[in-house]
Amino acid sequence: MTPTREKLGDLKRRAGERIGFSDARFLLEHATGCTHAELIASPDRAFPDEVLRRFESLVTRRAAGEPLAYLIGSAWFCGLEFLVSPAVLIPRPETETLVERAGAHARGIRRPRIADIGTGSGIVAIMLAKYFPDAEVTATDVSDAALGVARANAARHDVTPRFVQSDWFSALDGEGFDLIVSNPPYVAFGDPHLLENGLPFEPQLALTDGVAGAGGLLCIRKLIEGAIRHLNPGACLLIEHGYDQAARVRALLAEAGFSGIRSARDASGIERVAEGIQKTED
Ligand SMILES: C[S@@+](CC[C@H](N)C(=O)[O-])C[C@H]1O[C@@H](n2cnc3c(N)ncnc32)[C@H](O)[C@@H]1O
Repeated sequence: MTPTREKLGDLKRRAGERIGFSDARFLLEHATGCTHAELIASPDRAFPDEVLRRFESLVTRRAAGEPLAYLIGSAWFCGLEFLVSPAVLIPRPETETLVERAGAHARGIRRPRIADIGTGSGIVAIMLAKYFPDAEVTATDVSDAALGVARANAARHDVTPRFVQSDWFSALDGEGFDLIVSNPPYVAFGDPHLLENGLPFEPQLALTDGVAGAGGLLCIRKLIEGAIRHLNPGACLLIEHGYDQAARVRALLAEAGFSGIRSARDASGIERVAEGIQKTED
């Protein structure tokens, strides 16, 4: 059976009332394989029942809180579309601040050696590889499934970072970098935000260190400890962190002997990325 025009229109309207009209539009495009323009240009187009059932099922999952990006399999970051799966964090606009600060540090270094620790979908490493074609970019993650998504994104965007499975710096023995960037898991274990806004569908490994009482800073501490051994003299460490963690992350960098410590604000004006410079050798 094929639906009548009215039926398709009704379906879209009902979906819009449940999940918002923008999400309903994206899910309809995904289920039908048609662009928005095609759907507008051919409002009488009929679709097989199977397609409409797929749409209904996506709408039901969205209504249950599953993020749109996982349902359609992609998300936008820095103006590019990246593949995502439930193995990776969905790219957040705040992370553009990390890329901007990384760009400011990498500019001017010839063939910079850059490491993105905890690369997830690969967004940061891939943007840096695109902006700095002569850079040697290494992207690590402890999750093999995340690295699979990151590799697919690198191929999609025609760049070739080196991907390494690594628990923080464990697989980077003896390597030095001119810039280390990371958006580590930083939500405190047990934070009620973990139960909201689709976060239960995202990998907990990407969101929190899982340790009660650590204030979400355990991964950041490990990152700073490890980075000290892998930054070339005068090189920079950039860490994305939570909206209320800036002062504590600056203090951790100071304790570890970094200089030039400062924070950069995201587009909402929140201190979001801390940076420090590794001591130069005496
Ligand atoms: C907040 S996500 C960031 C992902 C991506 N860089 C982004 O900005 O969208 C943190 C990432 O750290 C990874 N991770 C967690 N524990 C790790 C560990 N011990 N070693 C390396 N990566 C780890 C997670 O798998 C996840 O991909």
